[in-house]
Amino acid sequence: MKFRRIIALIALLMTCALLLGGCVVAHRQDSSAVSSTEDAQTVRSDDSLIWWQKTIAYEIYVKSFKDSDGDGIGDLNGITSELDHLKSLGVGAVWLTPCYVSPQADNGYDIADYYNIDPTYGTMEDMETLIAEAGKRDIRIVMDLVFNHTSNENEWFTESRLSADNEKSDWYIWADPKEDGSPPTNWRSIFGGSAWEFDATRGQYYLHTFLPEQPDLNWENPEVRQALNDVANFWVDKGVGGFRMDAITYIKKPAEFLDGTPDSSNGTVSIHTMTANTDGILDYLHAFKSAVQDGTDIFTVGEANGVSAEDLPDWVGADGVFDMVFEFGHVKIDLPDEMNWCETREWTLPDFKALFTASQETTARTNGWYPMFLENHDQPRSIDHFLPAGADRVAGGKALAALVLTMRGTPFLMEGEELGFVNVSWPSIDDYNDVSTKNHYQYAIDEGYSEEEAMAGVHRFARDSARTPMQWDSSSQAGFTAGTPWLPVYEDYAVYNVASETEDPDSVLNWYIALANLRQEHTELMTGDYEEIFHDNEQIFAYIRESEAGKAIILINLSTAAASYDPACVENAELILGTNDKNEKGSLAPLEAVIYEETKN
Ligand code: GLC
Ligand code: MG
Repeated sequence: MKFRRIIALIALLMTCALLLGGCVVAHRQDSSAVSSTEDAQTVRSDDSLIWWQKTIAYEIYVKSFKDSDGDGIGDLNGITSELDHLKSLGVGAVWLTPCYVSPQADNGYDIADYYNIDPTYGTMEDMETLIAEAGKRDIRIVMDLVFNHTSNENEWFTESRLSADNEKSDWYIWADPKEDGSPPTNWRSIFGGSAWEFDATRGQYYLHTFLPEQPDLNWENPEVRQALNDVANFWVDKGVGGFRMDAITYIKKPAEFLDGTPDSSNGTVSIHTMTANTDGILDYLHAFKSAVQDGTDIFTVGEANGVSAEDLPDWVGADGVFDMVFEFGHVKIDLPDEMNWCETREWTLPDFKALFTASQETTARTNGWYPMFLENHDQPRSIDHFLPAGADRVAGGKALAALVLTMRGTPFLMEGEELGFVNVSWPSIDDYNDVSTKNHYQYAIDEGYSEEEAMAGVHRFARDSARTPMQWDSSSQAGFTAGTPWLPVYEDYAVYNVASETEDPDSVLNWYIALANLRQEHTELMTGDYEEIFHDNEQIFAYIRESEAGKAIILINLSTAAASYDPACVENAELILGTNDKNEKGSLAPLEAVIYEETKN
């Protein structure tokens, strides 16, 4: 607890100093300084923001970032050796995918021991070194807390499954079979198949929202909640800067377990429909916040599938449970049924813009904060996901970068996004590693789609595309490992790698760096409010960011055709950054992005 007490003391001293100086600084956790009325979208000064609101966050897929010991698997020492790359991108928070002890049924999202590092990734000492070395560069480490479930090899579970009356028997969700011996309900897990697994010893089923190797914890049990608070506090004491809360919308289950209306020809219904965002969940999360976060300077970001813009005020903001939540609206824009990768939905740019604008407006109004992201380790690469087929990858990567780095909120980048990575398209399902990709493929085949259709879905949505090794240089295995990588390095590595892109002034990487620097120089890009313009324009995403520091007008052509707009909005403005050498006000080349700033007179 030492670390937290020091933080609390510093906070107290700073408050006293500020009060003595007669200066009032709005702090978002100080409810007296925060109003949740309609007009709270006031002009903010730079110092009203907290460290994590002013930085850029970067997700590292630990397995794929950098291998230091030649076993083909990324590790903590590998990350420590590449911190300068992150520093040059302006990154101040690094989210590590789970690196705890795990049998890796879901690449670490199945945790067997929350208090130790998996030996494949290193030791606790390596973690302490990473935290310290990152700290020297003003970078905080963010841990992924997987609290909806554990691994089936976690001791909590191995004990729980022994009998119905041991100390941990109620730590997971056990239920009796239906009379005919079948699972208690027709719920289908997120990764496919029944969400219930039979355990012969207990003669009961246990619930798993994801894989059978990922049994769900029973949050109703106060001992479970206490054990999870202890885990989180252990990491706070290690000096981490925040937590990403995995699959957090599923922790609360309905009071009664009932069959749902089937949404698949096999008679099952997605567990998401039955359990996401169940009433009462916020009580648990408020309690977590006071037990873990209060009195610290860490931030929390929840993975919130099932939370929409209207729900946001309950989740983030002055009275919310987290500082930020990752919403799913835009990532699912093309996918009506998450289980079925063969049926996609058409969408238009105004649909896409409306999702962001709704969240931007709600978070701004409630003084909440927004994590701006297009990619993570579960999603396709954004160039393939959000741009028209055939879009030039460098121009497209830059256009999307402009969006991520100029919206209101903390940008979250996925490793490789800054290099312009695209999806892999391997020929056979056997080439893929991710268990959920394999299950989605099987589901398609079972539903009667052809092999070709099923593979088309895999090429479009496979999580492996976000997980191929990071590309450092054009040497063998892209400089990721001296051994054989656990997942193949993508074939484009000779061109798209950190070393080559650093040399090339027109690279996607140098554009990211330029945008990161621009945020520092024109701080309205961090602090300003957000106002969308030209909403009905089918090609251009445009908005204004304004604070007392200035007024920026951002125009991004997300289409592959030239576009035009009414130049009056930039009449008294000058170009401060653009993807092309020149820009004529009122028109944009395909995939061109420009940032204008109003000149003061
Ligand atoms: C989250 C993670 C995903 C994982 C799942 C189960 O959605 O982002 O990678 O498979 O939870 O833990
Ligand atoms: Mg290694």
